[in-house]
Amino acid sequence: MNNASKIEFHDLHTTRDEFLSDVINGLRQRPASIPPKYFYDAKGSKLFDAITELAEYYPTRSEIALLKQHADEIAGEVGTGSLLVEPGGGSCAKVHILLKGLKPCAYVPMDISKDHLQMAAQELAAQFPWLEIHAACTDFTREMKMPPSAPQGTKVAFFPGSSIGNFDPAGAVAFLQSIATLVGPGGYLLIGVDLKKDKKILEAAYDDAAGVTAQFNLNLLARINRELGGNFDLAQWQHLALYNEALGRIEMHLRSRCQQTVKIGSESFDFAQDETIHSENSYKYSVEEFNALATQAGFVSQQVWVDDKQLFSIHLFRVKP
Ligand code: TRP
Repeated sequence: MNNASKIEFHDLHTTRDEFLSDVINGLRQRPASIPPKYFYDAKGSKLFDAITELAEYYPTRSEIALLKQHADEIAGEVGTGSLLVEPGGGSCAKVHILLKGLKPCAYVPMDISKDHLQMAAQELAAQFPWLEIHAACTDFTREMKMPPSAPQGTKVAFFPGSSIGNFDPAGAVAFLQSIATLVGPGGYLLIGVDLKKDKKILEAAYDDAAGVTAQFNLNLLARINRELGGNFDLAQWQHLALYNEALGRIEMHLRSRCQQTVKIGSESFDFAQDETIHSENSYKYSVEEFNALATQAGFVSQQVWVDDKQLFSIHLFRVKP
């Protein structure tokens, strides 16, 4: 059997119609917004991978170092033979650190970006020939279901990258609840959470000198042009990243450099100069704040790991057996 034949692929991705109606609804609101899940087309997913390698973007490095340092402890807590699920695991980039110790019975990456997921799953299969992979192309913000072919085992959800910070706190609790339901009694959640810290460090991480994060943000508009027939003039939009200290979140916006009208198909949208489209939030949590959220969702804290510089945290939670 070759490696590729061990990958089961399930395609449940969102349609163009949904993309169109989400964009139109979002741009009709004031302040205007676009759901951040649409960042991740093939181009956006590549740009995102580039963000994770930027000097200013400390979360990826900090999290990988923590995972490496504590992989044995994690495996010691969770045990082997589990069913490892990764919502949003499109690039399968961090899971390899856990695989040797955890020896899961199967790995289920779920991601909205189909090609990205397929390629990453194939690479991982080549690296770990013993690993059974059931890749599911799905929008995990809408539904979180195991592919029917996945084997049984204690479920361990892996949600790295502080992606939980991209929900607002109420949405984060709801999402954590859906993970608790997915893993069931006795199931685990291993989750990476970015910590509150100095505003300068935070803002630099989301507005790098090379402008990669700006490209990533602007790609949202380029994607609307490509896929929905929009006519955004990218030169008239500016990337903004600001830390909102009161709400404990980085806000990403696209700022209109002038008064302008943008068309998407037959719809048109007016923007004043300096008006913004809110494209994403990234909430930051202290260890205590995050424990409180996860507790509300039905999890019990097992362990927390924080790096020496107190930049990033990894929590292990469990649903009561
Ligand atoms: N969830 C991570 C964060 O908030 C990664 C991420 C999501 C991100 N969207 C982003 C990073 C946009 C930079 C820009 O940090």
